[in-house]
Amino acid sequence: MKVWISGGSGFVGSHLVRAFDDVCAPSHAEVDVTDPDAVRRSIRAFAPDAVIHSAILNDFTRLERDGWAGYVGATRNVVGAAGEAQVVLISTDWVFSGVGGNFIEATPPSPVNAYGMLKAASELVVEGRGAVARLSAVQGVSEAPRSQDAGFGYFVAALVRALRAGERFTVWEGEDINMTATPTLASDAADLIARIVAGGHTGIFHCCGGESVDRRTLALRTVEAFGLDGDLLGFGPPPPQPWRIPYDTSLDARATAATLGVELPSLADQLARLQMTMEEVRA
Ligand SMILES: NC(=O)c1ccc[n+]([C@@H]2O[C@H](COP(=O)([O-])OP(=O)(O)OC[C@H]3O[C@@H](n4cnc5c(N)ncnc54)[C@H](OP(=O)(O)O)[C@@H]3O)[C@@H](O)[C@H]2O)c1
Repeated sequence: MKVWISGGSGFVGSHLVRAFDDVCAPSHAEVDVTDPDAVRRSIRAFAPDAVIHSAILNDFTRLERDGWAGYVGATRNVVGAAGEAQVVLISTDWVFSGVGGNFIEATPPSPVNAYGMLKAASELVVEGRGAVARLSAVQGVSEAPRSQDAGFGYFVAALVRALRAGERFTVWEGEDINMTATPTLASDAADLIARIVAGGHTGIFHCCGGESVDRRTLALRTVEAFGLDGDLLGFGPPPPQPWRIPYDTSLDARATAATLGVELPSLADQLARLQMTMEEVRA
């Protein structure tokens, strides 16, 4: 199966590239997804069976000016060029309000900030045409992990890096950040998306782990799993956030698991596998 992937050099995209055998993943410099002609030329030249749109304008300061083209326009470009190929859009738990949590695949989006609104609008471009794979709190090994931010991405790697270096790590806790989510190994998300592609599925999928946790629990479970010095952990308020952030974006993915025929992994299982991968990278 031939798979064309945007954003293949990114955190999620690099795991997607490894999940398939026959891949075309042009870099940003080779194909700018906001350029419809470039996207069409690249996809048509490769003639894929499936296209996965994972590229993202990750600079939130540019969303007001460039967000519509960067998210909705780019999704239109990919869908428009896909022809008969299957389409998968990578989306996010931040399409939800963060009130109540345990959102299922059928819960209508209720975004509270520009990022969530632009991703929800992008999902509409794919509706009736392909699959939407919503990810949450993606964890993995990266050469340049972000430090802690208002979301959960890279949280485990950032914490492990700090504590292994003997540095203190203050776990943010507050009303105005993402406090509860569903940690997901990037490699597991890629495997779930590969199953969506292999099965030719359409519709909305929650490609996440099997357990939702708050930041404190994730930090404590990470310390335990990695054998770190818990005395270096602290808990305190985050810096002021320039945007409204959804509080509890936990996902219920039972329908996805049933459709794809998988059991979603516990947090302990994910942390154990992440630790093994990190040891391999360090060796
Ligand atoms: N990370 C998470 O925790 C998380 C959680 C939920 C959902 N997601 C979703 O996962 C997807 C990927 O996110 P990520 O964390 O992997 O982001 P990332 O690491 O920042 O990667 C973004 C990728 O998109 C490329 N890109 C950016 N603008 C582009 C453009 N105009 N044309 C072509 N390529 C462009 C980047 O290339 P350059 O670096 O060369 O610009 C990079 O390869 C997104 O849809 C995001 O919403 C991520």
